[in-house]
Amino acid sequence: MKKYLINTSGCQANELDSEKISWVLDTMGYESTQDKEQADIILFNTCAVRKSAEDKVFGQLGELKELKRRKPEVILGICGCMMQREDIREFFLSKHKHIDLVFGTNNIHKLPQLISRQIETGKTIVDIIEDTREIDENIDAHRKYSYKAFVDIMYGCDNFCTYCIVPYTRGRERSREPETIIMEISKLVESGVKEVTLLGQNVNSYGKTLHMDYSFPDLLKDINEIEGLERIRFMTSHPKDFTERLIQAYVELDKLSPHLHLPVQSGSNRVLKMMNRKYTREEYLEKINAIKERLPNLAITTDIIVGFPGETEEDFQDTIDLVRDVEFDSAFTFLYSIRDGTIAAKIEEQVPDQIKHERFQRLLDTLHPIGLKLNQKLLGTIQKVLVEEVSKNDSRVMSGRTESAKLVHFPGGEELIGKIVNVRIDNVKTFTLEGEMID
Ligand code: SAH
Ligand code: SF4
Ligand code: F3S
Repeated sequence: MKKYLINTSGCQANELDSEKISWVLDTMGYESTQDKEQADIILFNTCAVRKSAEDKVFGQLGELKELKRRKPEVILGICGCMMQREDIREFFLSKHKHIDLVFGTNNIHKLPQLISRQIETGKTIVDIIEDTREIDENIDAHRKYSYKAFVDIMYGCDNFCTYCIVPYTRGRERSREPETIIMEISKLVESGVKEVTLLGQNVNSYGKTLHMDYSFPDLLKDINEIEGLERIRFMTSHPKDFTERLIQAYVELDKLSPHLHLPVQSGSNRVLKMMNRKYTREEYLEKINAIKERLPNLAITTDIIVGFPGETEEDFQDTIDLVRDVEFDSAFTFLYSIRDGTIAAKIEEQVPDQIKHERFQRLLDTLHPIGLKLNQKLLGTIQKVLVEEVSKNDSRVMSGRTESAKLVHFPGGEELIGKIVNVRIDNVKTFTLEGEMID
C-alpha cells in the first residue's frame, strides 16, 4: 500500500483541511504514515498568518531535497493558505525546484486528478482556485479523534483587518447551508462524537450569505437539539458582530460550552481603528460586562497583537489596562508580523523589535497572574471533563478539558478516553488544573 505523510501548521481550519486531505487519500487507497522515509507522498499544509510560519516550512522543504534526490519518485506537495498567495507560491517554486504538486484551500476534492497528472507527466502541477463557492462539501474527513470534531460552518473572511492575510488566502466569506451542517453533525454524533467545534473566521456573521433570515444563534439553537451531542464550542467570534442574541444563546442552550474566545487585538482605540476592527475598547468592554453579568462562570479568552505599526507606549498601556479590566482566563499573544499585500504592511512606522519584545513580556507578566487567580477560584470544585488523551509527560496521567475548555490533568487510564468524567480540582497552575476523578 502506498503511504502519505501530512505536515500541518496553522489554525483549526487547516487541521480540518488536513483531515479532509487524509480522507481523499484514503479513498485513493493510500494509508497514513509518520515516517518520511516510508512515504510516497509528503504534503505540507501551510499557514501564512505570520512570517515565522513561512520561514519554517521553507526550511523544512529545503531539508527534503536530499530525500528527493535519493527517492525521486516521492511526490512532494505543498498546499494550504500560503499557496493561495501568488507571491509566496512563486517564491517557493523558484527556490525549491523539487516541489511536485501545489494546490490550495478550495480544491482538495481535485487531489486524485492532480496526483494522477503528476504521476503521468512527472511535471510540477499547480492548481489553485480562489472562489470559495467551488469548495466541494461532499468531501468527508478522516478524523483524528473519535469523540470530538471540527465542523466548518463558513468559509473565507470579508473583514480585512489591516494586519491580516487571511482574507487574501481564504477568499470571500460564504456560509454553509444549515441543513448540511446539521446533517453532518448528526452523522458525527451517530459515530460517537460528543463535542463539536464550529469553525469560521467570524462565526458571528454566519448567515449573511444565506438567502434567508437565519443567523449564528439560530444555528446554535438547532445544533443544541441534536440528540446525543454533549458539547458545542466555536471559533472565532468577532466583537463587532457579537450580539445580545448570542448572550441569550449562552444562557439558554445547555450544550454550549461556557467559554467565549473574543479576540480584542488591542486595547487602544487609535490602534483598533488602524487595524480596521470596527469597535472601540468601550464597546468591547460593554459587551464583555454584559455577558459576565449573565454568566459569572464564563471563561473568557482572547488574541492580542503587540507592536502593530505606530503603537505607542500609551497605546500599549491601554491594552494592559483592558487586560486588567476584563481579566482574561488566557490569551494567545502575537508579535506583529508584516504580511506583504496587507494594508498595514505599507505603514512605514514600525515598532522596533526590542520594544516589541519588551512589551510582549510585560503583557505576559500581566496576563499570567490573572489566569492563575481565576484558576484558583476553581480549587475544590467538581468539573465535568471530556477525557482526551494520555498526558505527554506521564503515561499514568490523563488529560482532558472542562466544559469551559480548561486543560485538566488527573491520574487515570486509557480506557477513559472519549468519556466525560467528574474531576475534583485539587491543584492549579497558570495554564492547567490538576485533580482526582471522583466516580
Ligand atoms: N479570524 C480570527 C483569527 C484569525 S488569525 C479572528 O479574527 O479572531 C489568528 C490570530 O492571529 C488573530 O486573531 C491575530 O491576533 C493574529 N494575527 C493575524 N495576523 C497577524 C499578523 N500579521 N501579525 C501578528 N499576529 C497576527
Ligand atoms: Fe483576519 Fe480579521 Fe478575518 Fe480574523 S476577522 S481572519 S483577524 S481579517
Ligand atoms: Fe493560518 Fe490560514 Fe488559519 S493563514 S491561521 S491556516 S486560515
